[in-house]
Amino acid sequence: MTPQEFLERASSLAAEALAALSGASTPEVLEEARVKYLGSKGLLSALSRQMGGLDREARPEAGKALNDARAALQEALAAARGRVAGSGEGAEELDVTLPGRRVPVGHTHLINRTAREICAIFERMGLTITLGPEVETDYYNFEALNFPHDHPSRDMQQTLFLEDGLLLRTHTSCVQIRTMEKTRPPVWIIVPGKTYRRDDDLTHSPMFNQVEGLVVDKGITMADLKGVLSEFARQFFSPSTGIRLRPSFFPFTEPSAEVDIACVSCGGRGCRICKGTGWLEVLGCGMVDPALYAYVGYDPEEVSGFAFGIGVDRMAMLKYRLDSIGRFYSGDTRSMRQFPG
Ligand code: DAH
Repeated sequence: MTPQEFLERASSLAAEALAALSGASTPEVLEEARVKYLGSKGLLSALSRQMGGLDREARPEAGKALNDARAALQEALAAARGRVAGSGEGAEELDVTLPGRRVPVGHTHLINRTAREICAIFERMGLTITLGPEVETDYYNFEALNFPHDHPSRDMQQTLFLEDGLLLRTHTSCVQIRTMEKTRPPVWIIVPGKTYRRDDDLTHSPMFNQVEGLVVDKGITMADLKGVLSEFARQFFSPSTGIRLRPSFFPFTEPSAEVDIACVSCGGRGCRICKGTGWLEVLGCGMVDPALYAYVGYDPEEVSGFAFGIGVDRMAMLKYRLDSIGRFYSGDTRSMRQFPG
């Protein structure tokens, strides 16, 4: 065979093989074509063995022609495999009448949902959502809220301290000061947010959620506070849910009160949930202590106000009857999946 004949043979063989590969319509026919042209005993291999009979100088060109042909055919083979897959025996049948696979859709976490429900009720009463930082200074978390230095009320907050005199806020009450500092009265705000304490058991988590309320305006009285909170309990729990106020102490309110709602489980008769009392403690509140106004430059002769702090986690546990706060934060999605919406 002359070199010229060899190259012509290689080229016609490649064209023939290409036609066979691209014409194959089933995996079986394709495999047959592969063995015939590209197999170790195939036509391409047979031709390459004849290279030995060529002149020494003609061999590089002949070898290159064969290599190029083989590479092009390998590529054509891969493409043909993709094309015929699914048409042969045992291949997956495409049944277009089968129903589609359902894509799981996420939903709002129960804590966020509860915080939004709480805020929405107060927004309808005219309060505006306001936010503040989770990393705070002693000044906003304690001092300007009238927590005296070295006073036991600071210990009660189980504070998590950071470096450089910073801390993780133990309550959302800091935003009362931040807001009054920036705005003149009237102030009508509702503040949802994360809060932190050194606390961890069935009803406490180191990170939890609060919603703070603050109203400072002309002529605000304790009757306004009780009216607003009564309406809140009716809208959040049920139209027949009653509340009661018990005297309490917070450094930043005077007088201060703790608010109980009639037990969501027994309606007030007494049961395991309310430990037989008929009442459940749900939030702290009071009239803004005039000492705070000195920190923000408000005139206590001009304005008065009330404030309250609601534990979102506790509200969610009561409303949706969960027994442990850990259900919110464990990462086990089974608990939360029961509460779509
Ligand atoms: N900051 C209080 C706490 O986390 C809750 C609280 C009580 C907030 C009374 C208030 C309030 O605004 O008036 O324990």
